[in-house]
Amino acid sequence: MSRVVDTAKEGKRRILTVIGTRPEAIKMAPVIKALKACAEVESTLCITGQHRAMLDQVLDLFEIKPDFDLAIMKSGQTLVDITTGALTGVSRVIEQWQPDVVLVHGDTTTAMAAAMAAFYAHVVVGHVEAGLRTNDLERPWPEEMNRRTIDGMAQYLFAPTEGAKANLAAENLSGRAISVTGNTVVDALKITEARLKTDAARRDTLDRQFSFLDRSKRLILVTGHRRESFGAGFEAICQALAKLASRGDVEIVYPVHLNPNVQEPVRRILGGKASVHLIEPCDYLTFVYLMMRAYLILTDSGGVQEEAPSLAKPVLVMRDVTERPEALATGIVRLVGADDMRIVAGATALLDDAALYASVARAANPFGDGHAAERIVAALVQSSCADISRLSRAR
Ligand code: UD1
Ligand code: UDP
Repeated sequence: MSRVVDTAKEGKRRILTVIGTRPEAIKMAPVIKALKACAEVESTLCITGQHRAMLDQVLDLFEIKPDFDLAIMKSGQTLVDITTGALTGVSRVIEQWQPDVVLVHGDTTTAMAAAMAAFYAHVVVGHVEAGLRTNDLERPWPEEMNRRTIDGMAQYLFAPTEGAKANLAAENLSGRAISVTGNTVVDALKITEARLKTDAARRDTLDRQFSFLDRSKRLILVTGHRRESFGAGFEAICQALAKLASRGDVEIVYPVHLNPNVQEPVRRILGGKASVHLIEPCDYLTFVYLMMRAYLILTDSGGVQEEAPSLAKPVLVMRDVTERPEALATGIVRLVGADDMRIVAGATALLDDAALYASVARAANPFGDGHAAERIVAALVQSSCADISRLSRAR
């Protein structure tokens, strides 16, 4: 565990942010930047390293340097490995740095273990992206349980939407400090889109990098990694992609998640197939570029469901349930399950029916205005130290 010089100053709110995976880094980058820029806050970043390459890609892109790196990732890690490694490591950081608030994001095991470490140390927990629910503990697994557990321990609940706030109220959490902030993923997306629009040299580099794609064919962008789809689910997803590739009028680009449970079936079933391009996980700028070029996105990702409506890109979600009903309500996002027949039928309809495509491919933004990070930092700063200790006692 590395340690930087402690620059804490008297009277400043001490906020320890903990992240561990790619989506946490993308969605917390705007918050981390806003905290660093805030004069009333002493901010420190701990990464658990639950992910390595996929996390470092994001930190490099946003030029974020962690203060503590627990480096817990190992190949084939179990949930117990992640939980115990993060719980032990974050507990030590809390002991050493003595934060007033520990800020976590979303539903990963890093976030759950970091919140638990804070809870055990009687430190206030702030939860960004609180209140999303499928109401099914098995889907997403273990994320639904992680998010509920964090919400139960957190005093600051930053709900991205009114619907998420209503979920918290329904669980008798209204006594906590709940604010509706929008989702910080919209902040990250807007920053990245702006970079792409203004940086012509970078766009040219990306155009060259993907010059192997036939522009006369429509691009289907794919991601997938959910634990509940390992095995039969991934076999079905790959069979569907093979079928779609055989149409001849599409190009499939699939940045394959580094989890061996994903790599194995994907490379076995799709490796070497014409029109299927299996690539390494992309840095976020590259992925946003690909989303902008895509005709259609097939994914089981939470974050992509939130980004695609802003970009007016239809999404077929390869899951049976989603904790993001706002995305479904836009009409641009639809659930098809990890089911080969439904994936092929859903994609075929959008590829072959121009009127259907035009009716759904409309920009919508139910997840925020790009200013969520500012609201989160303002809420953390505006509450007084007395509020913090009251919140801590109220837990
Ligand atoms: C984790 C989160 C999930 C989140 C996803 C985002 C949990 C339980 N799961 O799932 O909620 O949606 O991240 O992608 O918190 N690996 C690497 N290099 C990397 C990243 C992963 O090699 O940079 C490989 C390792 O072999 C690792 C495996 O992927 O053991 C699984 O990583 P893990 O974080 O356990 O699970 P994810 O499926 O990535
Ligand atoms: N993403 C990325 N590179 C990729 C694939 C996805 O930067 O190769 C981004 C995507 O835009 C979204 C986030 O990663 O913001 C989603 O991460 P992931 O699907 O791993 O996790 P989830 O959102 O399901 O928790």
